[in-house]
Amino acid sequence: MQNNYNKLINNLDELKLEQFKINIDNYLNFINEGSKSVIDALYELTRLELNNKNERAKIANVKVANFPFIKTFDDYDFDFQPSINKNQIIDFKYLRFLENKENILLIGPPGVGKSHLATSIGIEAATVRQITYFINCHDLVLQLKRAHLENRLEQKLKTYAKYKVLIIDEVGYLPLDIESSNLLFQLITKRYEKNSTIITTNKPLSRWGEIFGDNVIANAILDRLLHHSHVININGRSYRTKDIIDSSDTNKN
Ligand SMILES: Nc1ncnc2c1ncn2[C@@H]1O[C@H](COP(=O)(O)OP(=O)(O)OP(=O)(O)O)[C@@H](O)[C@H]1O
Ligand SMILES: [Mg+2]
Repeated sequence: MQNNYNKLINNLDELKLEQFKINIDNYLNFINEGSKSVIDALYELTRLELNNKNERAKIANVKVANFPFIKTFDDYDFDFQPSINKNQIIDFKYLRFLENKENILLIGPPGVGKSHLATSIGIEAATVRQITYFINCHDLVLQLKRAHLENRLEQKLKTYAKYKVLIIDEVGYLPLDIESSNLLFQLITKRYEKNSTIITTNKPLSRWGEIFGDNVIANAILDRLLHHSHVININGRSYRTKDIIDSSDTNKN
């Protein structure tokens, strides 16, 4: 025969109130000792449960964002990349760009940390439940093309338009055909002044015509992206090869 305590524990299980269940014995003891009122105990138990729920939501949001790795600003060695204005980058943590629907363009050669910093900014947004998505430019174009073929382009564009932060990584590594450029143009137009887009690219803006195969489309895309934007040029060494280059330098000496 179960008493009400056992039934309460079963109910907490069934309701999936894990934190409530883990902590209830302590709180019952506090109430019995007279060190906490019933109201305070119930309030604190529900608070613990809510904190846990929020924490899980943060983790889930970061998970669905499709980041290539989990790396934060703390993992970035700003001393290694002196061309970067650290304060300007750290300010993105506060997500003011997102409030103002501004874009961020990270431009630089391979290995300087463009994807790393884009991810770090995205993690900050996802953690405060701003729906964020990271996608490689080539994959994005393939998805849009497929949707176009299957007569569901509008729906797909809407999905991509609604992300609070959309990170399009590696724009410019592979040249795009005219159809792909048009599809990207439509997406950027849909997001323009509504949500923030973060772009990483190895190509200086003056060479974007080469990516899109057409200067008119390249200019139209850039015009929308740059209107409210932060352009970060990183002119430094690759972090990927730093040890190889450092050791070959040492060997020469
Ligand atoms: N300054 C840095 N401090 C710490 N880690 C760094 C730094 N710069 C880059 N990295 C690391 O080096 C690797 C390469 O960086 P990342 O992928 O961001 O380069 P990228 O600029 O996007 O290059 P690519 O154009 O080739 O995609 C990653 O593991 C990243 O975390
Ligand atoms: Mg990259």
